[in-house]
Amino acid sequence: MQPGKATAIAHPNIALIKYWGNRDHALRIPANSSLSMNLAGLSATTTVAFDDSLTEDGVVLNGVERSGAAKDRVVKMLDRVRAMANLHACARVESRNDFPSGAGLASSAAGFAALAVAAVAAAGLRLDEAALSRLARTGSGSACRSVPGGYVEWQAGVEDTSSFAFSIAPPEHWALRDVIAIIDAKHKSVGSTQGHALADTSPMHAGRVATIPDRLNRVKAAILNRDFAALAPVVEEDALAMHAVMMTSAPPLIYWQPATIAVIHAVRAWRAGGLPVCFTIDAGANVHCLCEPSAAEEVQRRLRAIAGVQDALTASPGGPAHLVSNHLESVR
Ligand code: DP6
Repeated sequence: MQPGKATAIAHPNIALIKYWGNRDHALRIPANSSLSMNLAGLSATTTVAFDDSLTEDGVVLNGVERSGAAKDRVVKMLDRVRAMANLHACARVESRNDFPSGAGLASSAAGFAALAVAAVAAAGLRLDEAALSRLARTGSGSACRSVPGGYVEWQAGVEDTSSFAFSIAPPEHWALRDVIAIIDAKHKSVGSTQGHALADTSPMHAGRVATIPDRLNRVKAAILNRDFAALAPVVEEDALAMHAVMMTSAPPLIYWQPATIAVIHAVRAWRAGGLPVCFTIDAGANVHCLCEPSAAEEVQRRLRAIAGVQDALTASPGGPAHLVSNHLESVR
């Protein structure tokens, strides 16, 4: 097999039912199934080039050559792909986000989804969507949901082969918007990987996991029926349940800032006043405000007027991770 080069693009995603806690940390087999929407308008572009003349892998993220843990995480995925392809060449990886990397938006999902798709193609392998999703999952759990397009469910499964994501509806099914209130642009002090490892220390965790199937079914039905009134309360309930787990872990994880709580209260009041909007929050202070497309401009305007909200970015449902070029032939 001749080594080659490929470039792929993937979007980040916002979870409506959250992934928090693992059954198997090394393989990222999650404690619960989750469901998300890919975010068009934000993307990661990743190029992988296997090269026999290299003596070690090189990883450049957003223009900066990486070493240590950030590089090791990428090399681990390259090793999995090399093992599958029986390839021994080292690789050069370059990845760039088109969204502000300092905005506190999760970039690992888009980055590892694009890396999985590009590395597999560059190694000359062909994998189906489920296998690509499983591979992306080993880099970052939520990355498995950025492989398929649109609205995506990650079935938790019990081991590697049964834990992957699939699309439940294409992006054009429902033009929901995610208006993201940027509240804290700093790198979070406790990242998701460390956070997942603490979930089991919370007495709330088992309770949240037990109530996931019911919420997942309600969210799925609301999406399939394009029923915002049914979607909104369940999305908020699950985000609050996840943050209850975080806040009651040992040590506790408190990601919220005063402006986070101000936005939570504002969104609930706006919805009570007739605006179709609800909130969800990842492992950070920013608030994702999901709304009907007709409400997006108004939500953005109102968010920007709240003290402590630095900016508001709007994203719409995005497509699957995909190759943009595969230079395999030119290398042969
Ligand atoms: C709160 O996928 O970022 O955003 O596997 O360690 O990279 P790692 O974790 P990650 O966790 C995401 C946590 C979340 C909820 C979600 O996206 O479902």
